[in-house]
Amino acid sequence: MERWAGRVAVVTGASSGIGAAIAAELTKKGIKVVGLDPRFEGVQQLSKSQESATGKLYAVKCDVSNEAEVLTAFKWVKDNLGGVDILINNAGVAYDTSLTGGPTEELKKMLDVNVLGLSVCTKQAFQSMKERGVDDGHIIHINRLDSLKSLSFALNINYFAFVLCKLSGILIGAQLLEMHFPVIRANAGRHLLSLVS
Ligand SMILES: NC(=O)c1ccc[n+]([C@@H]2O[C@H](COP(=O)([O-])OP(=O)(O)OC[C@H]3O[C@@H](n4cnc5c(N)ncnc54)[C@H](O)[C@@H]3O)[C@@H](O)[C@H]2O)c1
Repeated sequence: MERWAGRVAVVTGASSGIGAAIAAELTKKGIKVVGLDPRFEGVQQLSKSQESATGKLYAVKCDVSNEAEVLTAFKWVKDNLGGVDILINNAGVAYDTSLTGGPTEELKKMLDVNVLGLSVCTKQAFQSMKERGVDDGHIIHINRLDSLKSLSFALNINYFAFVLCKLSGILIGAQLLEMHFPVIRANAGRHLLSLVS
């Protein structure tokens, strides 16, 4: 990990849970971490607890389902830190919305955050890497492995819409890998490629 010290990582959904843990760990490794979250006060608090770390955690208010906010956030990263070397697409929402029932609003929210938000952040990070000639960038989608490994989970009617979103994330990873490996490494893509081949 030492070779990443001084580089820039964006972590979406960094105010709690897995995103907060990843942001804190990367900061400890000397990385400049930008935590995007609508609840950015949580990222600010986390940043204070990381003051002795060799890296630094920056809090930026951003709802990834709002494209204008994502563009502003990535512009902030460019203006203040130069650009993005690592993107962790972690932000996610989950409702137990089935295909045949439940509010459409919940399905829309999941698609907006888990698929569209992930895609817009990926595009911005990729453009940032490309324009700076980064050849070792990482784009990582935090996913749910049992949505890949177990068809019975994928077909779980209560979480059908959530799994649909997570499988979309894997497809996006696979497409990135196909088009741009080894410039960009996207996780879970290889799993999918081996599943469909
Ligand atoms: N916890 C689990 O068991 C589990 C299992 C498999 C996968 N995951 C995945 O891991 C990721 C994180 O899960 P978690 O359990 O830490 O969840 P969490 O609810 O604790 O954290 C989600 C974070 O995303 C942020 N967020 C929500 N909407 C956002 C938006 N529109 N824009 C930016 N940030 C937003 C929240 O503020 C929060 O900080 C998700 O993608 C989830 O699907 C979690």
